[in-house]
Parts: sequence; C-alpha cells; structure tokens
Amino acid sequence: MIKSKRLQKICNYIEKENNIIDIGCDHAYVSIEMKKKGLKKVLATDIHPNALEIAQKNILESKLEIDTQLSDGLKEIDMTNYDTIIISGMGESTIEHILKEKEKLKNIKKLIIQSNNELPKLREYIETIGFFIEDETIVFEANHFYTIMLCKKGNKKLTKQELEFGIYKKENLEYYKYQKEKFRNLSQKVPNSKKETFLKKIQSLDNYLKERKQDY
Ligand SMILES: C[S@@+](CC[C@H](N)C(=O)[O-])C[C@H]1O[C@@H](n2cnc3c(N)ncnc32)[C@H](O)[C@@H]1O
Repeated sequence: MIKSKRLQKICNYIEKENNIIDIGCDHAYVSIEMKKKGLKKVLATDIHPNALEIAQKNILESKLEIDTQLSDGLKEIDMTNYDTIIISGMGESTIEHILKEKEKLKNIKKLIIQSNNELPKLREYIETIGFFIEDETIVFEANHFYTIMLCKKGNKKLTKQELEFGIYKKENLEYYKYQKEKFRNLSQKVPNSKKETFLKKIQSLDNYLKERKQDY
C-alpha cells in the first residue's frame, strides 16, 4: 500500500488493463504500486538523471520489471504500447508543455493529471487537446488540497463554473470553504481596481453551490 493519500488516489484511477507511462516519476512510487497491482506494461520516466536514478534504485529493490527512460515529457518515448499517461506533482505550465506533443497522444485513452497550480487554466487546456475531464478527486495532505483529474478521449465540455471550481462533489465541502476564504483574503489584499474580480468569484462559487443545495 502506497503511503501518500495523493498518490493512492492517483492509483485508484488506474485499472489492471492499463499500460501506463508515469511521467516525472521521481521516486517511481506510483509505477511500483501499479506493477504490484499486476499491470503488464509500466514505463517510469523523468527529465532529471538524479530523479531517474532514485527511481531505478527503488525499482531494483522492488524486484519488479519496470522500464525507465530519461525524457523531457513525451519527447523520447515510443508510445506504441501505452494507453494511459500519469502526470502529477508538477505546475500547470510544465503539464501543458508535456501535453503539447499532440501527435504522441494519438493512442492514449486516459490521462491522470494532478497539477500543483492553475487548475482552471489546465481544465480549459485539456479540452483543447481532444480530452475531457470525466472525474476529479480532491485530497487533503500535508496542509494542501490536491485535485486529481481523470481525463478521457472525447469532446464533452465542462460548464464555466466547473472549469473554475471543479466538478461538484458533496464531500468537497472543506475545499469549497477554503476556496471562498482564499478569494476573500485576496480581495482584501489586492488594489481596489482588482477587488471586484475576487468578489465576483465568491459570488459565482456561492451560486454554484446554492444551485446544488450545498450549504457552506
Ligand atoms: C515533485 S516531482 C513529482 C513526482 C511524482 N510524479 C509525484 O506526483 O509525487 C516532479 C517530477 O517531475 C519531473 N519533471 C519536471 N519536468 C519534467 C518534464 N518536462 N518531463 C519529465 N519529467 C519532468 C521532475 O524531475 C520531478 O522528478
């Protein structure tokens, strides 16, 4: 069992039939966990030789058969045998940089993505590359909320509010409260000319939750 709740939620979106590329694997915990689950093909990659060395050491200790490759995103990867990509623990701009190799995504059916920032921008971007967000899970760990997105091939679109606040789930109440508080704090910090932006966000979040009869 993987120790991190965040990584466990990522693993929960992967099925035994998937053949995965774990991009930016670092320690390779997800790759190792998934090979233990019985996946046939697992490729652990990273852009930094030091990170890949740690991955290789952990893989060796696990005695599991997991391929590794040094690569900036998908650039060096032969995509032939894979249908699922995991990208987690990175910022939005790096994730966008990795996904912009559209040719490489031809055979990919599923993306599991966890960005450390700019979720609305990332949601919009995902919809421009032929994928849609089917589900999201929020996990609270080490004083942070992390959103893990399950994306599939297709053209379904999220609503404007879903792009901004995520796919609604009753159990995310604490996250919505945190978002509201964050917008409130920002509205108090920014110059008067920018206050309106955050007050509008609060209003929009209030409406989003009211429409779903969520009291918060
Ligand atoms: C914070 S770690 C996250 C590790 C793991 N995926 C997780 O979620 O815990 C980010 C990793 O992404 C790697 N990375 C950053 N940019 C990358 C890129 N363009 N291609 C591949 N790996 C990248 C870094 O070297 C680092 O090991």
